[in-house]
Amino acid sequence: MKIGFIGSGVMGSALSSAVARSEIGQILVSDAAPKKAEELAQKIGGEAVSNEVIAEESDVIFLAVKPQYMKEMLSGIQKILAERQNRFLIVSMAAGLTIARIKELAGGEYPVIRIMPNTPASIGEGVVIVSPDDQVRLQEVDQVMTMLAPAGRLVRLSEKQLDAGGSISGCGPAFVDLFVEALADGGVLCGVPRKEAIQLAAQMVLGSAALILESGKHPGELKDMVCSPGGTTIEGVRALENGGFRATVMEAVIAAYEKNTKLG
Ligand SMILES: NC(=O)c1ccc[n+]([C@@H]2O[C@H](COP(=O)([O-])OP(=O)(O)OC[C@H]3O[C@@H](n4cnc5c(N)ncnc54)[C@H](OP(=O)(O)O)[C@@H]3O)[C@@H](O)[C@H]2O)c1
Repeated sequence: MKIGFIGSGVMGSALSSAVARSEIGQILVSDAAPKKAEELAQKIGGEAVSNEVIAEESDVIFLAVKPQYMKEMLSGIQKILAERQNRFLIVSMAAGLTIARIKELAGGEYPVIRIMPNTPASIGEGVVIVSPDDQVRLQEVDQVMTMLAPAGRLVRLSEKQLDAGGSISGCGPAFVDLFVEALADGGVLCGVPRKEAIQLAAQMVLGSAALILESGKHPGELKDMVCSPGGTTIEGVRALENGGFRATVMEAVIAAYEKNTKLG
């Protein structure tokens, strides 16, 4: 089968690399800047082609351009899609654009899966939220999930929940980067060299996240296990609560969600 990616930027590169590792089909990539597509194709063992060729030949068409360019890009391939005789699937990763809007822009009632990946997908440690519409067959959902598996953890959500979910996992890497930087800054202020401070903070976040997932324990329970009575950690927790840490993080997710819903 042929799997096409229109857009060879950050996410198009990350996901096409993952799909290439699944060895499910031949990968076609395109970009507004053909050189970018050629470099990506060379890296992942795919083929650089035009948007038109992807629209004409791919069994699965991943849309990996920014939401604001989707209308223009899809209007350029509408006619080709309409003329196709065989079945094909559209997979959109555009933040905020609903399945209904993608169909409208693509100009037909095509089967669409909306996904929401994140940047750690580029190293196989991502989260990809998967929301198929009613027209997508079960077997097609399974196939897309299998091809995306090398990107990381796959989570199925309804389309109604996707924007909210994406505000955690899609935007979250930036929130965590700020947290890691801030932890390291605190360490530097207390005398730890910068490089080691970042290593300590990042590995601690990685390990804590893995412990939550592997133990199945609620994060509150794991937090309680580190906070001994009258100890040092609970002093730090008090400082975080004084700074409105949890409320601020909630506000960050809500702000991203609200922006997401406006993009549509
Ligand atoms: N980055 C993330 O963390 C993230 C997370 C979740 C979802 N997403 C979604 O992933 C999609 C891609 O985002 P991104 O971060 O990968 O953006 P990006 O790095 O800007 O990549 C988009 C690519 O599409 C190209 N492009 C623009 N118009 C095109 C056209 N008409 N035909 C072919 N290619 C075209 C751009 O080329 P030029 O640069 O030359 O314009 C660029 O190389 C977006 O819809 C975004 O919502 C991203």
